[in-house]
Amino acid sequence: MQRLDKRLSEAGVASRRELKAILKAGRVQVNGEVVRSGERKVDETADEIRVDGVVVAAPRQVLWMLHKPAGYVTATEAPRERTVMELVPEPLRALDLKPVGRLDKDTEGLLLFTNDGKLLHDLISPRRHVWKRYYAEHEGRAGPEDQAAFAAGMPLGGGETCLPAVLYPLGPGRSLVDLREGMYHQVRRMLAARGMPVTYLRRIAFGGLELGDLPPGQGREVALETVLSPPCDIAQAGSRWVLRDGGDGL
Ligand code: URA
Repeated sequence: MQRLDKRLSEAGVASRRELKAILKAGRVQVNGEVVRSGERKVDETADEIRVDGVVVAAPRQVLWMLHKPAGYVTATEAPRERTVMELVPEPLRALDLKPVGRLDKDTEGLLLFTNDGKLLHDLISPRRHVWKRYYAEHEGRAGPEDQAAFAAGMPLGGGETCLPAVLYPLGPGRSLVDLREGMYHQVRRMLAARGMPVTYLRRIAFGGLELGDLPPGQGREVALETVLSPPCDIAQAGSRWVLRDGGDGL
């Protein structure tokens, strides 16, 4: 949702100041109803907005992936911190992109942005079970008991219990973790709960998208449907990312 005056000025209808007069004159309609306040919230993808009877085109819907470097917070604004928004190129900033979920300041890897409100909701809703894959370096060595604990749905304290997740040990101090939810510090907390504190964390896949060789700090636009297609379930997550030729696929 977005303020009506912001939506109209982004669409190039008029400046914020001129819009006040246009609104006051009753020239703007939202879904057929005259709206005189610029503060009114509109869904830029669902609501039909007209000025003088002419439909204001919906903004182009974008899905953009970034290789987030460490040191940036996932927030649209944060005093005294560098935010991931600084890494979004200027022409895309005007499209009002929002980060999809969050990565911790110290976590690197695949972070998505979109201005499609429904897609954003679908991607972060735990009910949609979109799988994410993380590469973790940690103390200790993960084994079968740790894999069983991840698969069972681990209690994390504070009344929180994780959905079943998949842990693939890669050797001493290195593992892959597949999750379909995004609880606060989840990978770090799950591995720490098994006595293996994380020293480095990178997200390498989100739904149908993989980070690949995108350099840190760089991004690229991706087709909206690629992330939710194919729909991921636990069996697919296991088979799609099966480790190739005994290597770790990284
Ligand atoms: N889990 C974490 O612990 N941190 C992240 O940034 C993402 C998942």
